[in-house]
Amino acid sequence: MSSLSTALKALSTKLSISPEQINTIANHFRQAMLDGLMGKQSSLKMLPSYLSKPSHKEIGTFLALDFGGTNVRVLLIELLGQGTFNVLAHVASRLKDADGHYNHVSAQSTADQLFDFIALKIATIIKPDTHYALGHTFSFPTQQTGLNAGTLIHWTKEIETTGMDGKDIAELLTAALARQNLTNVVPQAILNDTVGALLTAAYMNPGTTIGSICGTGHNTAYIEPCSPITKGPMIINLESGNFDQLPFTIYDSQLDACSEKPGAQPLEKMVSGHYVGELVRIIICHLFDVDLLGASLDRNILAKPYLLNGAHISLLLEDGTEELTRIATWLEDSLHITKSSLEDRKALKTIATLICTRSAHLVAATYLGIIRHIDPTLEHNHNIAIDGSLYEKMPGYAQAIQLALDQGLAGTATRATTSLTKDGSGIGAAIATAIAVEMKS
Ligand code: GLC
Repeated sequence: MSSLSTALKALSTKLSISPEQINTIANHFRQAMLDGLMGKQSSLKMLPSYLSKPSHKEIGTFLALDFGGTNVRVLLIELLGQGTFNVLAHVASRLKDADGHYNHVSAQSTADQLFDFIALKIATIIKPDTHYALGHTFSFPTQQTGLNAGTLIHWTKEIETTGMDGKDIAELLTAALARQNLTNVVPQAILNDTVGALLTAAYMNPGTTIGSICGTGHNTAYIEPCSPITKGPMIINLESGNFDQLPFTIYDSQLDACSEKPGAQPLEKMVSGHYVGELVRIIICHLFDVDLLGASLDRNILAKPYLLNGAHISLLLEDGTEELTRIATWLEDSLHITKSSLEDRKALKTIATLICTRSAHLVAATYLGIIRHIDPTLEHNHNIAIDGSLYEKMPGYAQAIQLALDQGLAGTATRATTSLTKDGSGIGAAIATAIAVEMKS
């Protein structure tokens, strides 16, 4: 066996999560949920949404604002009830101009500037003489005190806009709409994207108990049967990206130490699309530094942080050719590495597979923890609604989650399935708004 294969074998041991480990992580996750719910010290924030399952009777036309990263979207959605809807209009815009003319997500921009920009986008798809109720999918940790009231706890996903401290998000948006003379648009609900995914899937499939995002970021929401606030069912946003009882490796520690916020979002840094490429790059550099990888690979090119993104990792996993020719072409065209060897290309593919499988297994462990919490005697079936590029596009990712769920629930009466739920941030916001309007009438 070559020293590279020996090193890859050792790597596989470090990065594989066994069924026993999945079980242990699930139990720790379940305990962290309980601690968070009871107000004890926990890495899980357990944020109330003031929403529970939709009734399927939600109907009407609503505006949805989706802000969860460097893009913002506004949609006009008609809900027809029983899981059906139409998207009537849709605009999207970058909050950070590619040519550097403006950047509303940088520390140089204020909350007022950001919300003024968003209000101007809303103006482009509405009629001046029509009244609109709006739902705002705000995909950051938010301490809500009601369905339409909440403050940002802290930014995630590298947003740095200032002036959010202690300010109510609905009030910031309402004030910006007023500054643009858009008083015919009335914000009615704030929700996280995981809550939106759960609402959207549950609108169609009542067996949905969990909503999750496996994309650039990672987070999950679920229906808590007994919320500490209402003593009844309520959707809770776990902010599970911050879960921290995990089998970290030296590669995770290196990524964390060089990240914008060391110590924050440990699970998200091990599993999400923003980081999987960087983990693969860090491992490649380690192997290179001990002379195991690639005379043919160029260390200087690979030294650039965040050189590899989720789409690159997909490409590594997708190449089914015997000689891994698609990987060779990509190395040549994108990274100017002209003479890669087959052994090196195989190593890259193996590393990408290990990182993605680990991601899927860790995510599945958290879902198992949630299922054990809401269904302790494991008697019901659960649909887990998932959106995001990793789940949708990464080869083998959805299957690896399903396999781990099946193994974790083997011998019980429970079956957990996952389903792709597209655009929960838009449709979920419309459903939340319909619920808010109904509650007020
Ligand atoms: C980050 C945010 C969280 C969001 C997730 C997916 O983890 O903190 O609120 O749900 O990204 O967008």
